[in-house]
Amino acid sequence: MQEKLYFPGNIYKKKFLGGINMDKSKKIDEEITSVWSFPNRGEWSTHSGDYRGNFAPQVARNVILKYSKKDDLILDPMCGGGTSLIEAKLLKRHSLGFDINPKAVRITKEKLNFNDKCRFHPKVRVGDVRYLDDIENKSIDLIITHPPYLDIIKYSKGEIKGDLSNISNLNVFIKRFSQGIKELFRVLKGNSYCAILIGDTRKGGHYVPLSYYVMEKFLKNGFVMKEDIIKIQHNCNSSSYWKKKVKQYNFHLIMHEHLFVFRKPKTNENLDRIKYSHFNEI
Ligand SMILES: C[S@@+](CC[C@H](N)C(=O)[O-])C[C@H]1O[C@@H](n2cnc3c(N)ncnc32)[C@H](O)[C@@H]1O
Repeated sequence: MQEKLYFPGNIYKKKFLGGINMDKSKKIDEEITSVWSFPNRGEWSTHSGDYRGNFAPQVARNVILKYSKKDDLILDPMCGGGTSLIEAKLLKRHSLGFDINPKAVRITKEKLNFNDKCRFHPKVRVGDVRYLDDIENKSIDLIITHPPYLDIIKYSKGEIKGDLSNISNLNVFIKRFSQGIKELFRVLKGNSYCAILIGDTRKGGHYVPLSYYVMEKFLKNGFVMKEDIIKIQHNCNSSSYWKKKVKQYNFHLIMHEHLFVFRKPKTNENLDRIKYSHFNEI
């Protein structure tokens, strides 16, 4: 049976100790189309918008409820401010979170500092998505993650080796992140899902379809595509400054990201129905 999307009240502020406070009055509908828009980001529990570029908790919640079940093990290898791990804990899934930046790990740990005795308390540490050495093959039930979009937001100032947010060159970014994609494929169980939110950018007056380059690497590394969900961005600046620039330079402000949901096929699965024969010929 489909789980309901219950949005818990602010358990952190209420210091609710006797378990996870699921405030059923805040029930909202599950997303059923391929366009998601959350003009008001969820602020329940310890969520807040203060980690730059973090995704709305509604994104993590919808993915977790659709592609995992209670007691599953979820991985976010670029966890940032911990949005997906907070949701995993609230929804009674086990979870692992890594980030290459110790500051992100510290912030995440602080945000997870509620209901400490809960057996779903996530394990979080500094780590690189490209080297998930201590995670066994085929041990993860769901991956949900959100890489930097090239160097649009720099999460460090160049002092952290391996920080993808310091790479401005598209080819270098794709090459490095591909190592991570291989690791994601290795650790995920067969017939399980990997959801990744990624956006595009502009350079030299042209559109850089970063998301599509990333998607191609997932497909070439063995994943198959389950969904391409368009997520509307609400933090875009439509001030008079940008309106003027749009007219002056004749372009459109990017107002969407892609939430790609990939599936790792089962061993020996017949993929004839879903693999496109022309893909390898390109
Ligand atoms: C867009 S943020 C993630 C935000 C997160 N979804 C949230 O809601 O808070 C991307 C994160 O990737 C991290 N990162 C960059 N390169 C990484 C790498 N090689 N391995 C792991 N994390 C990395 C950055 O430090 C940053 O925190």
